[in-house]
Amino acid sequence: MTLPARPVVTVTRRLPASVEAALTERFEVRLNRGDTPLGPPGLREALATSDAVLCTVSDRLDEEVLRVEPLRASLLANFGVGFEHIDLAAARARGIAVTNTPGVLTEDTADLAIALMLMVLRRLGEGERELRAGAWRGWHPMHHLGRRLSGKTLGIVGMGRIGRAVARRAVHGFGMRLLYASRTELPPGEAAALDAVHVELDRVFAESDVVSLHVPSSGETRHLANARRLQLMPPHGILINTARGGVVDETALAEALRSGTIAGAGLDVYAEEPRVHPGLLALQNVVLLPHLGSATVESRTAMGMRAFENLVAWSEGRELPDRVG
Ligand code: DGY
Repeated sequence: MTLPARPVVTVTRRLPASVEAALTERFEVRLNRGDTPLGPPGLREALATSDAVLCTVSDRLDEEVLRVEPLRASLLANFGVGFEHIDLAAARARGIAVTNTPGVLTEDTADLAIALMLMVLRRLGEGERELRAGAWRGWHPMHHLGRRLSGKTLGIVGMGRIGRAVARRAVHGFGMRLLYASRTELPPGEAAALDAVHVELDRVFAESDVVSLHVPSSGETRHLANARRLQLMPPHGILINTARGGVVDETALAEALRSGTIAGAGLDVYAEEPRVHPGLLALQNVVLLPHLGSATVESRTAMGMRAFENLVAWSEGRELPDRVG
């Protein structure tokens, strides 16, 4: 593959200014100043006319888009750790490498998972809605009682980087007891430091006060939180999802929340973003955030710089630091 001295890179969405500046200095960059999603025609055009595309979770690079002719791009530098929106097999078949941005959004996503736990248990969204609606009648002992997070049992599904960062906060910050289900067990030292017990997935649902999901989206994890597992949870249990929407059966979750099978849920991700299941929108006992896990200046800048480093390595013919496909 021979690239021009300044390869053409299409950036599909607006990025922090410092990232756009670094990209502009090094590459012939096509920025998306209007920040409008490119959609399939724009993505096809980018693949046909650029050497690389810096894409995001909201760009669906499926088999049909990747079938574009003629094809010029040889790299998809994804801005984000999750890459289920890219058909890796189709990219490979077209000779397009794919990279992601692991590690740099771990702490912020873990913070958000804890924030959701507190929002749900302490009913913070409901409280703010009441106040803003002018319905608050002043302090009284039985007003708006929630439940305590400290000391409860947390069940983590998926002990990767983010799962472990949530575990540290929960154990060291909130004195929680920790159960987890994960393909890979924690190294003994880390498990001992967190007093973490590795159990079967169903046991996580059956024995935790709070279940927090931290697995990638795949055929294997699709609807992992389904009607049967939600039924295993105690009636005071809550479910937190900062991973991917497809991991939860949203219809089953809405029904479990409506019928009192579980007490609450906190969601940052949805199966068909930006659409939110109408059954969830109708409920008070679910906190719904618009995919904000990594939405800090610090994370988004670090994600951009990580994508930039992958682009630089690619342009210099070096091994890609974060190659996933
Ligand atoms: C990711 O990196 O996959 C996040 O969901 C985007 O913030």
